[in-house]
Amino acid sequence: MKNTVVTFQQAKQNNIKQTMLTAYDYSTAKLIDAAGVNAILVGDSLGMVCLGYEDTLSVTMEDMIHHTAAVARGAKNALLVADMPFMSYQTSTYDALVNAGRLMKEGRAQAVKLEGGAAVCEQIRAIVDASIPVCAHIGMTPQSVNAFGGFRVQGKGEAAAQKILDDARRVQEAGAFAVVLECVPAPLAKKITEELDIPTIGIGAGPDCDGQVLVYQDMLTMFSDFTPKFVKPFANVGEAMTAGFKAYIEEVQNGTFPAKEHTFKMDESIIDKLY
Ligand code: KIV
Repeated sequence: MKNTVVTFQQAKQNNIKQTMLTAYDYSTAKLIDAAGVNAILVGDSLGMVCLGYEDTLSVTMEDMIHHTAAVARGAKNALLVADMPFMSYQTSTYDALVNAGRLMKEGRAQAVKLEGGAAVCEQIRAIVDASIPVCAHIGMTPQSVNAFGGFRVQGKGEAAAQKILDDARRVQEAGAFAVVLECVPAPLAKKITEELDIPTIGIGAGPDCDGQVLVYQDMLTMFSDFTPKFVKPFANVGEAMTAGFKAYIEEVQNGTFPAKEHTFKMDESIIDKLY
């Protein structure tokens, strides 16, 4: 069944946990979609886990459109959410609207996600008014890594927790259909989840959110640069890949691969006629 923003709203009302995973290409999107995840996020984590940058700041609109379009071709039932990259919406409401529109028209996303609370509510409202659903993202927002002085948990002290709660209220008021809570203490995420009418989707925000999201390379142990505390390894695909690559190298080197069954035949008398 096709998941939509309405599915997310109904799930909150009916207390049904929603799942979201990232994807950046067609084949992975197909696998994740077939597994039955509710939403696929083409995150700007693309910059780190696919493109090898040390943060998400260098990701461009062209990168996001290219990968969103690939995922859209593979995702049939999951709600497809695309991240708005750094400086594609902070600069003006006009830029936000134009770039959200591009992710929908060229990338075939069904919703966009952008980072920030009160500071980006004007942009959220303008995008929502153009009939583009917006998922907000507050707490540890990776595009603010330089302002935060690193990828750190946010909202531990009273003032910081109050600001995140206020941001959550503001993005709901501005029309967001859901909000990602990243790296905030579990009791704060619980309070926000209880207070909001829109679903919260947690990543490093404890078990009480209305849904959870993870970067698929993290949960499959495919990304080894660093592993955040909130990641659980659900499978060791990285190890399986390395074993497969090594087996391939060995079989090519010792002549086991390709075997007869991997080889195309022809009338070999033709070979004798070649000069
Ligand atoms: O870019 C991303 O993958 C994200 C998730 C971590 C929520 O924003």
